[in-house]
Amino acid sequence: MQHICVLHGPNLNLLGVREPDVYGQVTFDEMNRRIKERAKALDMEARIFQSNSEGEIIDLIQEAMKWADAIIINPGAYTHYAYAIRDALVASRLPIVEVHLTNVHAREEWRRHSVIAPIATGQIIGFGMNGYLLALSAVKTLLEESHR
Ligand code: DQA
Repeated sequence: MQHICVLHGPNLNLLGVREPDVYGQVTFDEMNRRIKERAKALDMEARIFQSNSEGEIIDLIQEAMKWADAIIINPGAYTHYAYAIRDALVASRLPIVEVHLTNVHAREEWRRHSVIAPIATGQIIGFGMNGYLLALSAVKTLLEESHR
C-alpha cells in the first residue's frame, strides 16, 4: 500500500470559515475526511497534517522522508517565498504535487509566482478541494508507472 503525506500550510485550517466566497464552504475537517476516503478507495493511505509555521512544515517533510511514497502539499502563502520549504521538498527526493484551491493566476499578481513549482512533479490548481482528490489519482498513476 502506498502512503501519501498530505500537507496543508498556514490558514488552511480555517477552511469553511475563511473567505468562503474565495475558498468555498467545505470545512477543513470535511475536506480531510474526503481526502482520506478517496485515498482508501484508491488503495492508498493518506496521512494529513496542517501547520501554520514554516519550521514545522519542514520537520513534517523531513519525517515524511522516512515513511511516505509521495507528498501532496498546499503551502498556502509560503508557496510564494518559502525557499526553505522548497529545499526540504527537494531533499525528500519524493514525488511532489503542489495543490492550490484557487486559481492563483486569476488573483493578485504576487500569487502567480511559486517557488515550489519548479521542483514539483506537477501542480493542480483552481479546482477547490477536488484538487486534492485529483492529486491522489495523479500520484497513484505516477507511483504505479514508476514501479513498472
Ligand atoms: C492558496 C493560495 C495562496 O496564495 C494563499 O495564500 C493560500 C491558499 C490556495 O489554496 O489557493 O493560503 O494556497
